[in-house]
Amino acid sequence: MRIGVLTGGGDAPGLNAAIRGVARRAFQLGHQVSGIKNGWAGTLRGDMSDLTPADVRGILPLGGTILGSSRTNPLKEAEGIDRVTASLQRFGIDGLVAIGGDDTLSVARGLFDAGCKVVGVPKTIDNDLSGTEFCIGFDTAVGIVTEALDRLHTTASSHHRVMVVEVMGRDTGWVGVTGGIAGGADLVVIPEFPVGLDEIVAHLRERRGEGKDFSIIVVCEAVDIPGLAVAGEGGADAFGHIRLSKRGIGDSLSQGIEAATGFETRVTVLGHLQRGGTPSALDRLWATRLGVAAVDLLNEGQSGVAPVRRDGEVAVSPLSDLVREQRRVPRELYELSRVFG
Ligand code: F6P
Repeated sequence: MRIGVLTGGGDAPGLNAAIRGVARRAFQLGHQVSGIKNGWAGTLRGDMSDLTPADVRGILPLGGTILGSSRTNPLKEAEGIDRVTASLQRFGIDGLVAIGGDDTLSVARGLFDAGCKVVGVPKTIDNDLSGTEFCIGFDTAVGIVTEALDRLHTTASSHHRVMVVEVMGRDTGWVGVTGGIAGGADLVVIPEFPVGLDEIVAHLRERRGEGKDFSIIVVCEAVDIPGLAVAGEGGADAFGHIRLSKRGIGDSLSQGIEAATGFETRVTVLGHLQRGGTPSALDRLWATRLGVAAVDLLNEGQSGVAPVRRDGEVAVSPLSDLVREQRRVPRELYELSRVFG
């Protein structure tokens, strides 16, 4: 069998570990592997080539993706799914492993509906896929936020400042709440549980009243804070997602706090640092497990599914379950963050 592998959407630490898992398992089972360049763009353009054992040697600790990525959406292209199917046939690909988040996996599902043999692997630092407890990249991103908060604590306390830290996560607050708890943020503002500027200001004044002369606030990029204007919104990508970083909610919150309290305030936007660099051990381990499991599923003749982590083990989930809805931060996790203000 010839197996195609692609990585789509925003890159995430651990993608190369997954590619390596796919390739090494395929070689072990006697299959051939085609590396498809730049996500779905490579399927549309027929941009793919053989992966050899040498190609996947030494890539386990590397961030990014050796295959490249894109936000190309064949569902938005004229006859996109037909063109992808024809291209896969032309290159003799019998089964495809699509590593990605909800966008990439929704295209994979469309391909499955069109009769292609396709298995997904969940990846996104946003951690917002339903049907899995693990998405490649999330653990590393949380580690980066945690380290940033540790570093910001020392400068915040030295200058008695408020530090606002803007994090990614698209429409959910997983990166914010998890990084915020691990890094000891005093307040975490996430899309799932909106708070007003008044509440934030009251929280900061209360801390000062208790003799705590600095504060760290984590705010997620998509948050709306009543009464605070944002800078604007970047244009939408092919999946309809606007560039949330352009809103500048961190900056806007920082200015709002300073104006309302007079407390000296600074903002740090972590941005793409959260997606860069070497993956954590957990991301490497689970990317490896899921990459290997994806090939096993194709080898067994399964399609339209993805290996996922469920109750700490590898399980199988239909692609339709993974992309059904956004997994949102539950109240108990958010309330845990509020214990430490
Ligand atoms: O989905 C991952 C993610 O990093 C989001 O958290 C963020 O909103 C978006 O991608 C940024 O996308 P881009 O790298 O295309 O600006």
